[in-house]
Amino acid sequence: MHALIVTAHPDPKSLTHSVATGIANGILASDPAHTVEIADLAAEGFDPRFTANDHAVHLRQAPQAADVLAEQARIDRADALVLVYPVYWWSMPGLLKGWIDRVFSNGWAYDEGPDLPTVRKLGHLPVHLVAIGGADMRTYARHGYFGAMRTQIDHGIFGYCGAPVVTSELLVGEAGSNLETALAIGGKLFGTSRQSAAA
Ligand SMILES: Cc1cc2nc3c(=O)[nH]c(=O)nc-3n(C[C@H](O)[C@H](O)[C@H](O)COP(=O)(O)O)c2cc1C
Repeated sequence: MHALIVTAHPDPKSLTHSVATGIANGILASDPAHTVEIADLAAEGFDPRFTANDHAVHLRQAPQAADVLAEQARIDRADALVLVYPVYWWSMPGLLKGWIDRVFSNGWAYDEGPDLPTVRKLGHLPVHLVAIGGADMRTYARHGYFGAMRTQIDHGIFGYCGAPVVTSELLVGEAGSNLETALAIGGKLFGTSRQSAAA
């Protein structure tokens, strides 16, 4: 099985990158035959700006851009998609949001048109979401921030495309325990995904 882990953080020494590496190590420890690709959107210089061409693609009036096709191809090669990101302003970083805006396009992630019912096209893709926050859990609970993130990201984005969200974690607090959690998420990633796909 092959996992694509997508991160969006400019500092390779960040907790976000350590968690992404921990998840990768957990996957590989669970079965050395598994493979993992870490897509570091910041290091790769992915351009998150939604262009006029992207809009024309959305309207199905233009062919897809090469950089978006490359991202879609690497998702297509994966048996599971894992997003690991720092919480910025109670959501995902703009770089990752722009990646979703551009890559999860009409015609690939879903089919939609004026006279067509919406078709969700990513039912085959188990998704794991790992957000890393600086605030404490009480703050998240008091304001309902994590619930809001789940509504918007899990349901609003992946639900819209039909992709099952198998894991949705918010890691806050001590770095060491977050790294242990990362290893555990990786360790059960494909077991959990298979169960979910069969359910
Ligand atoms: C622009 C910016 C916005 C942030 N907004 C939030 C936020 O809304 N909630 C939160 O819990 N942490 C927030 N943080 C803290 C990050 O989530 C923190 O960087 C995170 O714990 C990940 O650690 P890392 O940067 O070492 O990977 C923010 C950080 C930055 C730089």
